[in-house]
Amino acid sequence: MKVADVDAGARKFGRCAACHTIGKGGPDTGGPNLYGVFGQALGQHRPRYGYTVALSTAGGRWDAQTLDAWIANPQKLVAGTKMQVAGMVDPLDRADIIAYLRSQSD
Ligand code: HEC
Repeated sequence: MKVADVDAGARKFGRCAACHTIGKGGPDTGGPNLYGVFGQALGQHRPRYGYTVALSTAGGRWDAQTLDAWIANPQKLVAGTKMQVAGMVDPLDRADIIAYLRSQSD
């Protein structure tokens, strides 16, 4: 059985790195820095980043379930978000990315 792999997730994060830094203390770029986002409320993690109202008022927290839905199709989870990307269709790709995001926190 295949299980989520942090190292594979780090490589696959390359698809996210065009818009996101992940290092601790990294800057917000096109999207917010994602260090420590796992477990945070949606659209609240980086107060100085200009989130859409859609995301900052969506409610809920970033956990394995919400991140999975988000990476599969951001607009489907939060209509009106400005994260305009083609979602990742393979559930294992998503699981790897989530494992990596989870590892990048204190
Ligand atoms: C084309 C640029 C772009 C790409 C590529 C991109 N994102 Fe985003 N992302 C954004 C933007 C912009 C936002 C803010 C959305 C909003 O405010 O509605 C965002 C928000 C997020 C958030 C919410 C952060 C928070 O503080 O609530 C997460 C989690 C996230 N992205 C993960 C990812 C992952 C994982 C990938 C790769 C699979 C990815 N993003 C690829 C632009 C991008």
